[in-house]
Amino acid sequence: MSDQLSKESLEYQARAREVAERYIRPLAAAHDRSGEYAWAVVDALKEYELTGLWIPKEYGGHGRGVLDLCLVVEQLSRACGGIGVAYAVNALGSFPIILGGTEEQKQHYLPPIAKGEKLVAFGLSEKASGSDAGSLITTAIQDGDHYVLNGEKKWNTNGEVATYYTVYALTDPDKGIRGISAFILERNTPGFTVGKREDTMGIRAVPVNELHFDNCRVPASALLGGKTGTGFKNAMMTLDRARPGVAAQGVGLAQGAFEWAMRYASERKQFGQSVSSFQANQFCLADMATQIEAARALVYSSARLIDSGAKNISKLAAMGKVFATDTAMKVATDAVQMFGGYGFCRDYPIEKYMRDAKITQIYEGTNQVQRMVIGRALTNEYKNLDKELDVKIEHFPEA
Ligand code: CAA
Repeated sequence: MSDQLSKESLEYQARAREVAERYIRPLAAAHDRSGEYAWAVVDALKEYELTGLWIPKEYGGHGRGVLDLCLVVEQLSRACGGIGVAYAVNALGSFPIILGGTEEQKQHYLPPIAKGEKLVAFGLSEKASGSDAGSLITTAIQDGDHYVLNGEKKWNTNGEVATYYTVYALTDPDKGIRGISAFILERNTPGFTVGKREDTMGIRAVPVNELHFDNCRVPASALLGGKTGTGFKNAMMTLDRARPGVAAQGVGLAQGAFEWAMRYASERKQFGQSVSSFQANQFCLADMATQIEAARALVYSSARLIDSGAKNISKLAAMGKVFATDTAMKVATDAVQMFGGYGFCRDYPIEKYMRDAKITQIYEGTNQVQRMVIGRALTNEYKNLDKELDVKIEHFPEA
């Protein structure tokens, strides 16, 4: 697929691969065990000028799009899914500002994110509000020229290492979804604390935290775009643009797991021959490689569609997320199987791919939600097919 990429995109991809091989792969197992944040990788990403690719040039970024973001996330995730998402979540956290921030907010928040000096997290989900994102109950009630936030957020990837947080809350609780507004919070705001770190199955190199707001007063300038009631749309538009990043994490994990499976199957001998020479394993490896290539093509095309400025991007973004992350889980599971008993042991790198892959089917919208998004888009797209085709469905000739 690389022959379809521009020279600039290939350069970003090559630099990301180098960071992955030199700085991530040697440390992946240790960070998985310790849960320590890989600050050395953040330094390497700065050195290799890979931070803030998706941020417009006027705010200190590279002015590149979602495709280049995906290329980088894929390479990082090939070596470690946790470190891959630690990078990608900065796009999830900064898209709300790019899409809906005032000029002052963009000038203030985007340059340090672009330079990799500040990390950003995204606060939408709550304990009782996951797939039904519009049912959130955190409030932000106006008090003069301030808003007072109360409530808590759940599943904040990069929670305890971020400096900035895009947070969604009800400014008008009677209006439901239309009463949701977005805010940009800074770490040291009184009344705001980063809470419990989740003890996760995979992506253990990255912290996932709760956020707590206890009479947390923020100035009106923290209201994203200076407008109330636009938060839900902003969150949905953000997720449309960020989901290819999770999909790319899936492609990277699948590719990484596949490469280990190829190596192991070639080296491991049973019945006097390498296990890769058995037809059952060849078919399995062929399916893995085919699924990865198909996932990559879908993810890149969803990213290209977004970068083209097209309006209707939700369906393809969701398709890429479903297909690539289901592929990641399947390929990683098959790769563990290829390793036999060793695949089940932490001495070998493969079980981590299976643990890291699982969350990609869940976060940034479960794959069930993605199918819902795709289904709704299809219903809308095909509602006029009857008129367009000018053929009545019951008018097939009788046999
Ligand atoms: N773009 C713009 N506007 C959109 C939109 C989109 N993609 N999708 C919906 N909207 C608008 C609709 O047009 C509608 O606006 P009007 O009222 O003006 O008509 C409004 O939003 C409500 O839309 P729906 O009726 O479709 O909303 P819904 O309640 O049925 O929810 C949903 C739709 C797709 C299920 C949505 O709730 C959803 O995406 N849920 C999953 C949330 C999610 O992905 N959470 C993950 C959070 S991040 C994370 O995991 C943590 C991390 O750190 C990685």
